[in-house]
Amino acid sequence: MSKIAIIGGTGLSQMQGLTINATKILDTPFGMPSAPFILGSMHNKEVVFLARHGNPHIIPPHKINYRANIWGLKQLGVSEIIAVAAVGGITPEMLPAHLVLPDQIIDYSYGREHTFFADDLEQVTHIDFTFPYNQSLRSRLIQATTKNNINISTVGTYGCTQGPRLETAAEIVKMERDGCDLVGMTGMPEAALAKELNLKYATIAVVANWAAGKSEGEIAMDEIEQHVKNGMANITQLLTAFINA
Ligand code: HPA
Repeated sequence: MSKIAIIGGTGLSQMQGLTINATKILDTPFGMPSAPFILGSMHNKEVVFLARHGNPHIIPPHKINYRANIWGLKQLGVSEIIAVAAVGGITPEMLPAHLVLPDQIIDYSYGREHTFFADDLEQVTHIDFTFPYNQSLRSRLIQATTKNNINISTVGTYGCTQGPRLETAAEIVKMERDGCDLVGMTGMPEAALAKELNLKYATIAVVANWAAGKSEGEIAMDEIEQHVKNGMANITQLLTAFINA
């Protein structure tokens, strides 16, 4: 049976309804993961939870040890990862508190340790990344939303910026021109690292705010918090339904 991992982002530092059986601190060849792994069960399925930004929430997006996190999950026997992420909305459908299952990525991040295939190689290794998110995992998530009447966009291109600052209005204009629907800071290299280790990976994004320049004035941080909170209730419902399916 597949073992599911949930990587929680901003607004999801623990998983409601998860019975916690153990916590595991893992060291990896790439250093320490963001937090101890929470080993639990839900509806008779084994679930591993990891707080991407640490617990407490103190690791900024560009400092997250993505390699240690993904390596640790592989070590624990996980085969599927659902990554939860707060994002800014760029295109009209992506309004605050809305949920999205992105299907594509454009990576604008830099200077991050973004591959396992860097050192001590027997040969240069490339992976296919045409479809960055696992299609069968996405289909099962879509089924769970349909069954539970959860409103979600099932396509969207996620643009990953470096952070921790938000973008300028001009950067968002450029990203929209590039084809981005959403902007976040943690989608990469996480998705690529999962693919390098043959782990099925999909992202559920919750829109926290209109991206820079898409609403009047500046972006208010307390507004982000409120929208994430509102969207997170639906994410928890979706995750529960997915695990129960
Ligand atoms: N930009 C980048 N990352 C984000 C945003 C944003 O507007 N909102 C939440 N995460």
